[in-house]
Amino acid sequence: MSACPNVIAQGASIPAIGLGTWPLKDETCTIAVTTALEAGYRHIDTAAMYGNEVEVGQGLRLSKVPPEQIFLTTKVWRDNIGEGDLQRSAEKSLKALGVSCVDLLLIHWPNATIPVEQSVKALCDAKRRGLARHIGVSNHPTALLAQVLRAATEPLVCNQVEYHPHLDQTKIIAATRRAGMAIAAYCPLGRGDTGGVLTEPTVVEIAKARGKSAAQIVLRWHLQQPGVVAIPKSATPTRIRENFKVFDFTLSADEMTRLSHLTRPGSRIVEPAGAPLWD
Ligand SMILES: NC(=O)c1ccc[n+]([C@@H]2O[C@H](COP(=O)([O-])OP(=O)(O)OC[C@H]3O[C@@H](n4cnc5c(N)ncnc54)[C@H](OP(=O)(O)O)[C@@H]3O)[C@@H](O)[C@H]2O)c1
Repeated sequence: MSACPNVIAQGASIPAIGLGTWPLKDETCTIAVTTALEAGYRHIDTAAMYGNEVEVGQGLRLSKVPPEQIFLTTKVWRDNIGEGDLQRSAEKSLKALGVSCVDLLLIHWPNATIPVEQSVKALCDAKRRGLARHIGVSNHPTALLAQVLRAATEPLVCNQVEYHPHLDQTKIIAATRRAGMAIAAYCPLGRGDTGGVLTEPTVVEIAKARGKSAAQIVLRWHLQQPGVVAIPKSATPTRIRENFKVFDFTLSADEMTRLSHLTRPGSRIVEPAGAPLWD
């Protein structure tokens, strides 16, 4: 199988397919992480809020893949992004994961009650203290992204946002790219069976023509967009392996366009109370 490419952003080299780990818990989580690493994944996404960092850490160690080959992301929950709290959350994550440093530390969600300048300063401090090799944000629309970029004294390498063929993210993707940052696509499969992306007739038709699964077509669509990384989650070993077999074919320009035209209003999946004003 061809190798997984890396997205290069502000000095970070991020494997273009990672394993999402929400809401995996306990043994299922550990097995998913080891299965992914054994299948060739070198990028794992977790967060303090997922409550599974201990299990993720166990999976990393059980896999026998050298730690320096694994790109590990965690995130600080929005209640903890104030000065002091953010650094303490990062330290707690490292302890739970059993590592001395993560590759990427993200602010999970913005928090309107904490000044952006304060949380970005704390994030940059966490990097300078060696808690993370790289830092970035998640769920930041263009106005907030501009604010964090103004406040940052260290490079920001990534904005992790919801992105699948139903959701038009043109504006935030353009702004993230302009900043030289990677776009990490969460819910890349639109949540699989429950979401409707994988049963879209266009996706199914291209999958049939190519002899691939619908999930592989959607992930390949992400991969062929500059600066985009995708982090599909699965608890199912066969699907974890399937989602990584996307490097041996290329979608045509016409197929890419057809998939990009599947956007529709009201398709955002993750919209918690307190979410920012999206673009
Ligand atoms: N930053 C944020 O605020 C944020 C928010 C949401 C998610 N995330 C991250 O992004 C990751 C991915 O997002 P997500 O889990 O919400 O959605 P997703 O990856 O789009 O979808 C996961 C769903 O798709 C199914 N699936 C996986 N592979 C499949 C395949 N090959 N064929 C058919 N179905 C398949 C899974 O089922 P099985 O597990 O049963 O196989 C699961 O139900 C999360 O795990 C998390 O790490 C971040």
